[in-house]
Amino acid sequence: MTDTEINTAPEATTSHPPRLTRLTFHGPLSEARAHALVERLTRAEPTTVLDIGCGWGELMLRTLAAAPGATGVGVDVRAEDLARGRRNAEDRGLAGRVEFVEESATGTSRGPADLVLCVGASQALSTAPEPDHTVEALRELRRLVSDNGRVLLGEGFWQRTPTPAELAGMWPGAQVSDHYDLATLLDLVVAAGFRPEWTETANLDEWEEFEAAYQADVEVWLAQHPGHPLADETRERLDRHRAQWMSYRGVLGLAYLTLVPAL
Ligand SMILES: C[S@@+](CC[C@H](N)C(=O)[O-])C[C@H]1O[C@@H](n2cnc3c(N)ncnc32)[C@H](O)[C@@H]1O
Repeated sequence: MTDTEINTAPEATTSHPPRLTRLTFHGPLSEARAHALVERLTRAEPTTVLDIGCGWGELMLRTLAAAPGATGVGVDVRAEDLARGRRNAEDRGLAGRVEFVEESATGTSRGPADLVLCVGASQALSTAPEPDHTVEALRELRRLVSDNGRVLLGEGFWQRTPTPAELAGMWPGAQVSDHYDLATLLDLVVAAGFRPEWTETANLDEWEEFEAAYQADVEVWLAQHPGHPLADETRERLDRHRAQWMSYRGVLGLAYLTLVPAL
């Protein structure tokens, strides 16, 4: 789940490495789990949806499609992902009910909303390092959700404690303190004023699909453009990310926590 920023201009995809083109979601999330999440999250008929670090907001768009009375706001700092979200909204007839806003979500004045999505994006809510980061992000989520609403938090956790060698291979500066185990994460959720309505975690198939799709089009592009001026830096990024993935595979988890504010 580290950043491998390559090309951003859609019109340049024939001559430049493509970017994230094979991903449906920007994280390890299967169609089956997405379907179940949308069903659960729309059961209480939310009228407002706020997507923190939305990227192209695929889950928000599906939620809005399943909740015809709802409007949504997605906040992110990446213009090209927001543009993809706007195009998808237009294609699905949702453009009148959703806004993709280019701004930081840190300290946001948006909300409260009936449904707050924060999937793989708690870094948008708190810039503090752990151990404060998760507590602050959860406090923000409680502030941003209405009392009878729901939060979907997609958050990293350690499936087991990483070895020093594994940590050294992950993202730069990776430390055991970067994440909690699932039990501790849930304890923090409860301490922040939520009850966990539903706890689930991405499985290995979802991770493998995500990580493959993350790089696939760029791998194909590189294989076919060995002499391109961007080939060397692209190869270096792909190789670095693959090595990182091989270090966190089966160690880093992603929990999808459907949270209810405790009144
Ligand atoms: C792993 S992606 C997840 C995107 C989306 N939630 C999804 O699941 O498809 C994390 C997102 O957080 C965004 N992000 C990081 N810092 C942010 C900030 N301060 N404000 C808003 N978005 C931020 C990134 O630009 C990125 O799109």
